[in-house]
This record gives sequence, C-alpha cells and structure tokens, in this order.
Amino acid sequence: MIPILGTVPEIRAAVAVWKKERMSIGLVPTMGYLHEGHQSLMQRAAGENDRVVVSIFVNPLQFGPHEDLERYPRDMERDVLCCEGAGVHLIFHPRSDIMYPHEFHTTITVNGLTEGLCGKSRPAHFAGVCTVVCKLFNIIAPDKAYFGRKDAQQLAVIRRMTQDLNIPTEIVACPIVREQDGLAKSSRNIYLRPEERKAALALSRSLRLAEQAVADGERDSAILRTVIKTELTTEPLIAIDYIEIVHPVSMRPLRNLAGPALIALAACIGKTRLIDNVAVTA
Ligand code: PAF
Repeated sequence: MIPILGTVPEIRAAVAVWKKERMSIGLVPTMGYLHEGHQSLMQRAAGENDRVVVSIFVNPLQFGPHEDLERYPRDMERDVLCCEGAGVHLIFHPRSDIMYPHEFHTTITVNGLTEGLCGKSRPAHFAGVCTVVCKLFNIIAPDKAYFGRKDAQQLAVIRRMTQDLNIPTEIVACPIVREQDGLAKSSRNIYLRPEERKAALALSRSLRLAEQAVADGERDSAILRTVIKTELTTEPLIAIDYIEIVHPVSMRPLRNLAGPALIALAACIGKTRLIDNVAVTA
C-alpha cells in the first residue's frame, strides 16, 4: 500500500530521508481522477528517478467562480490503485486548509504568457496553477516534475515560472495520451454524454487536418484556423472558445508559420470545456 500523507511536515520528513540517501525525486502534480495520461507521467518519472511522489489536490485557486470545482470528479480509491501500478512511492493528498490556511495572501502571476488562449476566458486560472505548483515545489523539492503536453500553455507558464524564480526543478514535458479514436485523455471526459463524446472527436480531427495542411505547405495561420473552424462547426454541439496558432514558448500569436508552432484550441461541448493542441514545425 502506498503511503498517503496529508500534511507538510509529514511529506517533508519523508522527502528528507530520501534526500539524505541522495535519492532523486520525481513529482507528478495532479488533481486526481487519474487516467492513462497521468499514468504515463508516473511511469516516466519512475524510470528517471529513485523515488516518485504524486500529489492529488483539487486546487480551488485555479477554478473561476462559475467553473466546475464542486463537481470536479474525485475517486481516491481508484487513484491509489492507478498509482500502485505505476511505480509511485508516496501520495501527497493535502486538504485545502493545509495548502491555503486562513491567513493566505500570496499568488504567483506570470505575465504575458497567461493573457491569451485559456487565460482569456479563465483570467485567474494560471495564477492559481502557478501558486499551487510553486508551493508543491517548495514543499517536496523534486529534482524533476512531470507535466502533460495537452496543457501546453500551463507547461509554458510553469517553465517560465521556474526559470524566473530560479526554482531548481527540471520540468519534463510528456506527450499527449489519446483514446484510440483520438480524443485527448482528460479527467473531464467523464462529464460527456454519449452524443457529446462523439461530437468531441471533431477536436482532434480538426487538429489533424491542420497538421496535414502544414505538412502540405500551408503557412498562413488564418487559413489554418479556418480549416479547424470549418471542421468544428460540422458539430452543432461544439461551441468554440478559441483557435490559436502561437509560438510554443512565448505563446505569442503567429501570423505565419516559420519554425515551431503550437496549434491550440478550446471548446465547450455542453457544459464541458475541453482543450487540445498539436505541435508542428514549418
Ligand atoms: O494539470 C493539472 O492537473 C493541474 O493544473 C496541476 C498542475 C496539478 C495544478 O493543480
């Protein structure tokens, strides 16, 4: 049985023992309701470190007032089983008042990169993510931390934060894990009704079309966005939030592709907001 620790002194004490023995530590930060995407992060962490910690914490700070904090899926028993099969040594599962005690006044803001894409419709989201990730880094002091490329903007923002704040944790980016039919794995997929699940396939399908267009020589972002939009609008259940083509590090919009680019989108299907992206090089 993997130990589940809930307080900062407990996890610090466990980590201190490993550090004393000069063991390397990999951290996989999660909000639980783990799936194969998370498992791939854990397995990668287990292959690259002596010890692996998974944090499971539904971080209230990164949810907007009308978002899905209350209904965000939770299943601790299943999560523990998932960690057991993936080489995890310890689970950090703090309560909200442990992470954010009564007198909590600090947030971390990464400017610029957080203003576009998801930041437009979720203005406080990345400050919430950065604050909790920075706290986890300070509590656990991992050598490496593992993040999925599905949250490409999150990844870029966390990389920026660790560089800007001289945090000595290496950020490891891991590939998007998809269902067989192309839907990117997400804890939120559980919300989708069967007809919504079917409509959601247009997300990855539209990105594949754009990827193919780039491979065929298309460099104009406006045309690539139209390719995606045309595909997404074949599904009446989809409400597009954004379709953006940006530089993968700065998240600045690109008019034309000349080098690496991230083609990213977000859409609502019913009440469920999903994101997906593809990295291309022109
Ligand atoms: O990607 C997530 O699940 C969350 O944003 C993270 C990084 C665990 C922070 O709460």
